[in-house]
Amino acid sequence: MMSLKNEVLALLAEVSSENELEGLRNSYLGKKGRVNQLTKEISNLAKEEKPDAGRLLNELKKIIEEEFERRANSFGLEKEGEGRIDVTLAGEKPKMGHLHLVSVAMNEIDEIFKELGFTRTTYPEIEYDWYAFEGLNMPKDHPARDEWETFFIEAKENKRFGKVVLTPHTSNGQIREMERLGKPPIRMINMSKCYRRQSDVSHIQMFHQFEGLVVDKGISIVHLKGTIDYFVKRFFGEERRARIRPFHFQFTEPSFEVDLSCSVCNGKGCKLCKEGWLELGGAGMVHPNVLRAGKIDPNKYTGFAFGWGVERTYMMKEGLMVDDLRILYRNDLRFLNQF
Ligand code: FA5
Repeated sequence: MMSLKNEVLALLAEVSSENELEGLRNSYLGKKGRVNQLTKEISNLAKEEKPDAGRLLNELKKIIEEEFERRANSFGLEKEGEGRIDVTLAGEKPKMGHLHLVSVAMNEIDEIFKELGFTRTTYPEIEYDWYAFEGLNMPKDHPARDEWETFFIEAKENKRFGKVVLTPHTSNGQIREMERLGKPPIRMINMSKCYRRQSDVSHIQMFHQFEGLVVDKGISIVHLKGTIDYFVKRFFGEERRARIRPFHFQFTEPSFEVDLSCSVCNGKGCKLCKEGWLELGGAGMVHPNVLRAGKIDPNKYTGFAFGWGVERTYMMKEGLMVDDLRILYRNDLRFLNQF
């Protein structure tokens, strides 16, 4: 049957007039045409072969009819000058793509921080050890580095900045932004790809983080909490709440983890959350050593910083929770088309 299809396609390509096309249509789709002949032949087949053969023939007929239609339309197009096109016919709806939901999330995050006067930056994914660790108060061989399960690049070590890594967090942007601006005020939102040697339902090897950094005179935890609250209400909705809880990071002092009230139980506790709260990410007041590394005087200026995963943050929106974060990057259209 497939050879019949190829035969028709070859003949259609040769057709040069509408009359010729009609003749051809008759000999394939007409009463005594080849397709009807095949239909009769099917009735002679064994009983168990009939359903499959019938289905195949129907598909073939549909394809051939569509090809004839397409060819007939092309004659109409060639005669456009003679007014043969019926412009009142409904058009074919073009297939539209859309942004990946992680891009949608990043645009949304960007818009919210813009309202607060933050500047969007992107700093290198391939980074020196110094910006990713050492400048952030994590000296060589410091055990805190283990948390970041880092990929190292086989590249020449830089005398001042050390080894080359795939940045495991957007905190590498902190000192780069201090260097770019030279002095406060700083209000940065740094968004880019991060990499870690991790893969399970809540960890991806390549993911995105957004990092806030504010440095100025008199910046305190109150500003940090106010910024977090503003973001949480704008991004997740008025009814969601944020809390900060003590934690440890080498580059902030004091350090916190930020939790978000669960959308299902609203803080009471349910199967989805830990006693009513979901973990959003890290935050804290910039460590004086980090300010010094960025050539900012910690006696004059203070600052706060936070760094959260874009994928995980987006999945905490009401009704968006997925069982396995890795599905975001499996390019499965059945999943992606839902957004
Ligand atoms: C950090 O990366 C700190 N740099 C955050 C920070 C910035 C603290 C500024 C203080 C001041 P942590 O390793 O916890 O912290 O990662 C932060 C968030 O990134 C996590 O809460 C999670 O949302 C996301 N994340 C981390 N690893 C992965 C991963 N493998 N896949 C997906 N998301 C991840």
